[in-house]
Amino acid sequence: MHRKVTKAVFPIAGMGTRFLPATKATPKEILTLVDRPLIQYAVDEARAAGITEFIFVTSRGKGALEDYFDRAPELEASLKAKGKTDLLKILQATNMESGQIASVRQSEALGLGHAVWCARNLIGDEPFAVILPDDVIAADKPCLQQMIEAYAETGGNMVAAMEVPADKTSSYGVLDVPASISPVMPVQGMVEKPAPGTAPSNLAVIGRYILSPQVLRNLDAHQKGAGGEIQLTDAIEKEIRSAGNVYGYRFDGRRFDCGSKAGYLQATIAFGLARDELREELQDFLHEMMGMRQAAE
Ligand code: G1P
Repeated sequence: MHRKVTKAVFPIAGMGTRFLPATKATPKEILTLVDRPLIQYAVDEARAAGITEFIFVTSRGKGALEDYFDRAPELEASLKAKGKTDLLKILQATNMESGQIASVRQSEALGLGHAVWCARNLIGDEPFAVILPDDVIAADKPCLQQMIEAYAETGGNMVAAMEVPADKTSSYGVLDVPASISPVMPVQGMVEKPAPGTAPSNLAVIGRYILSPQVLRNLDAHQKGAGGEIQLTDAIEKEIRSAGNVYGYRFDGRRFDCGSKAGYLQATIAFGLARDELREELQDFLHEMMGMRQAAE
């Protein structure tokens, strides 16, 4: 029996420059898909997977993320007084219990590996999950929950994986795995942002990880990798070489890259279409837009 995973790290220190000016005074993770900020999708996915301790790795200007999960007594009282119980319920679902969220600062942007390493004292000597809120995954069973179930069999370390077109592999961590159609794949190697034409496969790492505390120790050396940054991929690759206990997990679901504008807009449309109260109006609008486009061509 492997030790239960109860802690998750959310690296949210990035400046979100790709979304400027929207992110000038608002953290990127507060950007909203329909009516919920990106960070809430990430936290809800973790909760569904049994996570009870949430570690935010933040930087200056991210206070709104902590406030977001706190109680809002005046707002709650006002909704209660007006009898708006539905809204009150929605609001209360965002409240976290006292002490459930801890945050640590990453005072310099040194890379994803460094961000995760910043959480080391709160993680201690147990396995933990990492969720990158930019990667939003729509799935019947939340992605991290799928992974936790697979991890119950494998132990070790597990990274979410997805096939991407060959000309996109240089934007990701890429797995070297034996040819297989099974969802769980033993990983033989891992490379961060391989130069075009050099990727070991087209299986890209997506922002969900279950990691052993040894990965944190591998990060102690602060070794720089791709792009001059301290890479999480390199610390996991070290585990492949020393312990050989890293698995790729081909998840069931659709991933949206909400770190890019096109991916964010696609997610907005997909999550809008998934809502009963919005579907029809949105579908009509999309048909209209497509019709206009065809007419223009
Ligand atoms: C990070 C990881 C990369 C992974 C990607 C998934 O890259 O370093 O291995 O494939 O997230 O979204 P970033 O997108 O931060 O450059």
